[in-house]
Amino acid sequence: MSSDPDTPITPTWGPLRSFGRIKSRTLKPRQAALFDTLLPTISVPDPANGPIDPLALMPDAKAVWLEIGFGGGEHLAAQAARHPDALMIGCEPFLNGVGSALRHIEDGALKNVRIHADDARDVMKALPDASLDRVMILFPDPWHKARHNKRRLIQPPFVDLLCRKLAQGGYIHCATDWEDYAVQMLEVLGAEPALRNTAEGYAEKPAYRPLTKFENRGLKLGHGVWDLVFTKK
Ligand SMILES: C[S@@+](CC[C@H](N)C(=O)[O-])C[C@H]1O[C@@H](n2cnc3c(N)ncnc32)[C@H](O)[C@@H]1O
Repeated sequence: MSSDPDTPITPTWGPLRSFGRIKSRTLKPRQAALFDTLLPTISVPDPANGPIDPLALMPDAKAVWLEIGFGGGEHLAAQAARHPDALMIGCEPFLNGVGSALRHIEDGALKNVRIHADDARDVMKALPDASLDRVMILFPDPWHKARHNKRRLIQPPFVDLLCRKLAQGGYIHCATDWEDYAVQMLEVLGAEPALRNTAEGYAEKPAYRPLTKFENRGLKLGHGVWDLVFTKK
C-alpha cells in the first residue's frame, strides 16, 4: 500500500448533506453506553489529523473493505462476521445508525470493524492510494428531486477519488432502488477508464449481499433494485 503525501486531507467538496438526519431520536440506553465504551476502542483515527494506515487499525488484515453509509450496520456486521480476516471500515454520520451498528458489533463479538461516524470521503482521502480491496455503497441517499441530483455521492470527482484508493483488481459494489440513480451510476462508473464493469450493464444481486433496511423499504414501495459491480483494471 502506497501513501500519497500530496493527498489533501481537507475535503475539496462542500459539507456533507445527508438525505436523512444526523440524529432522529434519542439513543436507547444500551446504544448510548456503547458510544462511550465500544466506539472509542474501534474508531478510525480522525482523518483531520493526517494519513490513516489501515494496517495500524488491524495489523493482520488480509484485505481492507470500506462501506460508505452503512445505515444501521446490518450489512457491515454480516460481512465482518463472514470475513473475519478482512478489516471492515464503516462510515456513517447518522448517529442512530452508528448506535445500531455498535449493537451488532458487540452482539457478534466482531473484532475486525472500525467505525468513522462521519463523512466517508474524509477517510478515503486519508487512506493510502490503492489500499482498498472493496468499496460498498448500498442504497446511497437518492436525492431524487431533479434540483437535488447534484448532491448525489456517485459523481465523477468522487469516482476519481474512489479509483485512486481502490487496489488493482479491487471491487466497487453499488446498489440503488432509484432507477434514474442507477442510470447515473452506470454512466459515471462506466465512463471511468480505470474501471471495468463485471456485467453487461447491471449485475445480478451478489449472493453475499443481505437485504438492507433501505432496500427493504424500497421494495415495499414497489421499487426495483439495481446492483452494479465494477473492478479496477
Ligand atoms: C439511504 S441510507 C442507506 C443505508 C444502508 N446502506 C441501507 O441500505 O439500509 C444512506 C446512508 O448514507 C449515509 N451517508 C450519506 N452520505 C455519506 C457520506 N458522505 N459518508 C458516509 N455516509 C454517508 C447517510 O447518513 C445514510 O444513512
